[in-house]
Amino acid sequence: MRKLLAFAFLFFFFWDKTLAQIAPAPPLKVDNITSILEKGGQFTTFIKLLKATQVADQLNNQLSTPDPNDGITVFAPSDNAFSGLKPGTLNSLSDQEKLQLVQFHVLPTLMSTSQFQTASNPLRTQAGDVKGGKFPLNVTAEGNQVNVTTGVVNATVENSVFSDRRIAVYQVDKVLLPPKAGVKGAVVAGAVSLKFHALAMGFSSFAVFWAIFRGF
Ligand SMILES: *[C@@H]1O[C@H](CO)[C@@H](O)[C@H](O)[C@H]1NC(C)=O
Ligand SMILES: *[C@@H]1O[C@H](CO)[C@@H](O)[C@H](O)[C@H]1NC(C)=O
Ligand SMILES: *[C@@H]1O[C@H](CO)[C@@H](O)[C@H](O)[C@H]1NC(C)=O
Ligand SMILES: *[C@@H]1O[C@H](CO)[C@@H](O)[C@H](O)[C@H]1NC(C)=O
Repeated sequence: MRKLLAFAFLFFFFWDKTLAQIAPAPPLKVDNITSILEKGGQFTTFIKLLKATQVADQLNNQLSTPDPNDGITVFAPSDNAFSGLKPGTLNSLSDQEKLQLVQFHVLPTLMSTSQFQTASNPLRTQAGDVKGGKFPLNVTAEGNQVNVTTGVVNATVENSVFSDRRIAVYQVDKVLLPPKAGVKGAVVAGAVSLKFHALAMGFSSFAVFWAIFRGF
């Protein structure tokens, strides 16, 4: 009996050890915004922008922290949505404006479709303060239909691309351009400052000319 017990003990001891050796530790599953969108297959432009502005890295860092924060919601415009923009729109944006545009598509909270029904508008995005009225984003939902509006663009959520407890990605049919005070406003301000610069240059070359003229 003793022998049998000892044998049983040894058997289970080694069996246990062997099992522990065979069963690999489950790979740590880390969400990756780029691969989520790549699987979607129709977000090439948005992926490019996410990479160029380094928002992809920033989101992946957020997603890889072991302690889940409030989560992330991404409104991803499809390639079709980008081709709906006026030609040259993206190229006319500075790096800073591209960053703001991308951040405007990211909410610093995880929102499920049902949470859209009770969303408190305007929603906070990563582009910044809604209080200044610069980057307002409103969501209205009814049943399965979810609309997003910025005041200048009315978009519709076409599809839920991905969701888990950290990140939800929704496909939208339009690029969410912020109103004048946002990206476009910055473009206008840039043009004005360029004109002023040209004026100042004109003035300084006149001053140089005048100094030379006086010298003679
Ligand atoms: C995310 O996925 C892309 C390819 O899908 C890969 O190039 C990149 O290294 C991944 N990033 C992280 C942080 O895992
Ligand atoms: C969403 O927008 C469409 C028009 O694009 C409209 O017919 C529909 O009623 C809107 N739905 C909600 C919930 O706002
Ligand atoms: C967004 O919702 C807020 C609060 O309901 C409202 O004051 C604002 O006018 C809305 N903006 C747009 C662009 O729909
Ligand atoms: C967006 O929808 C609202 C009403 O739902 C409408 O008043 C507004 O004109 C629309 N804006 C654009 C740019 O289509």
